[in-house]
Amino acid sequence: MIPAIRGTHDILPGEVERWQHVEAVARRVFERYGYAEVRTPVIEKEELFSKGTGETTDIVQKEMYAFTDKGGERITLRPEATPSLVRVFVEHSLEQAMAVPKIYLIGPMFRYERPQKGRYRQFHQLDVEVFGVSDPAIDAEILDLAWTLVTDLGISGIELVINSVGCAACRPAFSAALIAALGEDVAKLCADCQRRATTNPLRIFDCKVPQDQPVIDTLPHSVDYLCASCTQHFDTVVKHLGVYGIPYRLSHRLVRGLDYYTRTTFEILGGNIGAQNAILGGGRYDGLVKQLGGPDRVGIGFAAGIERLVLAMPEQAGTANRKPVFVAAMGETARDAALALLRDLRRAGLEAHMEYEGRSIKSQMKRADRLKAVVALILGDNELASGVVAVKNMKTSEQTLVPRDVVLEHVARMVALD
Ligand code: HAM
Repeated sequence: MIPAIRGTHDILPGEVERWQHVEAVARRVFERYGYAEVRTPVIEKEELFSKGTGETTDIVQKEMYAFTDKGGERITLRPEATPSLVRVFVEHSLEQAMAVPKIYLIGPMFRYERPQKGRYRQFHQLDVEVFGVSDPAIDAEILDLAWTLVTDLGISGIELVINSVGCAACRPAFSAALIAALGEDVAKLCADCQRRATTNPLRIFDCKVPQDQPVIDTLPHSVDYLCASCTQHFDTVVKHLGVYGIPYRLSHRLVRGLDYYTRTTFEILGGNIGAQNAILGGGRYDGLVKQLGGPDRVGIGFAAGIERLVLAMPEQAGTANRKPVFVAAMGETARDAALALLRDLRRAGLEAHMEYEGRSIKSQMKRADRLKAVVALILGDNELASGVVAVKNMKTSEQTLVPRDVVLEHVARMVALD
């Protein structure tokens, strides 16, 4: 046996229905807010993420599944969707093609992380992005969309956490303030943080090393260093959240682990799923489209981890609601009539099964039980001769003879009433 790769998962019947439920609810919610689906390749040029996600992020430095292909090109399995969707926006001029470029993507992402509950090497995201709208009303709309997605899935015990990390104008002053506040203490921090202090001091807030936390707790907060327009933007986002009636908590540590964020950043945490409890995360990225070679357009979006949504959903959500019908045949002649009945049931939109191995009626009915059939239709020579089908209600074991020409309607009614 050659097992699956560590950190990857097969999604089997029994669980796949919960995934289908998440995807169906998500599509309905996204479409209500005006988003259209796009599908992009799983492989992209490595450069898209080293430039987009950012050279100083853990994703680019440690986690990419990157390789040189047979043509000598540096390729990577996508670790996130945002740079791909920015590429799509630019490459296909969505600004011209769509009234408002609002797009979503559902698919697998790949990060070489240490696997644990809720953290995998191949995982799946629902990602939404909107381009070209700077008004803070769109930030609040995105937050409302994220909140609606999670609550429509019946997930409880959740918390929306927000922050503002400023813009290109006010970030340098905040970075300088961080360095000044760290002073000599920088030497006490872990090797990663010492590197972050020189490459991108904001990243220090991502640090999970327990010994570093007392120092990090004393650092200044980005919201205290915002320029006037970032302050006004953030105040308006918060005011709009009040209009939507969405509760939130401000967290100055929420800088998010990707380099492109400007102004609003957010996560929804909770759902009682253990240590990896960020159900979704996102924010504004006003410089990214230009940085990736596009026009100077702003953007905002978020991505939710499907595995985490599935974990956090109530147990009964998305369970299969199948109502199989079983056709049993006694004898060779009846078998042909049974096959025609099987075909008609399926054409009428019902889930129908038959046992092909020509076993006894007893073992056929056992199979019907294992399939959890709601109705069994039994055809033998006698039924054929009289133009009827024996219809057995598998729950009550009640059996009646129904004329063949009305049996489809009869069974459809029984299935609907079950
Ligand atoms: P992210 O915070 O890296 O953001 O990932 C978003 C979500 O994906 C997380 O909150 C989590 O639910 C899920 N996730 C991330 N890594 C893993 C993993 N290894 N295993 C399982 N689930 C995981 C982004 O990816 C940004 N592109 C979000 C965004 C969109 N920002 C703006 N637009």
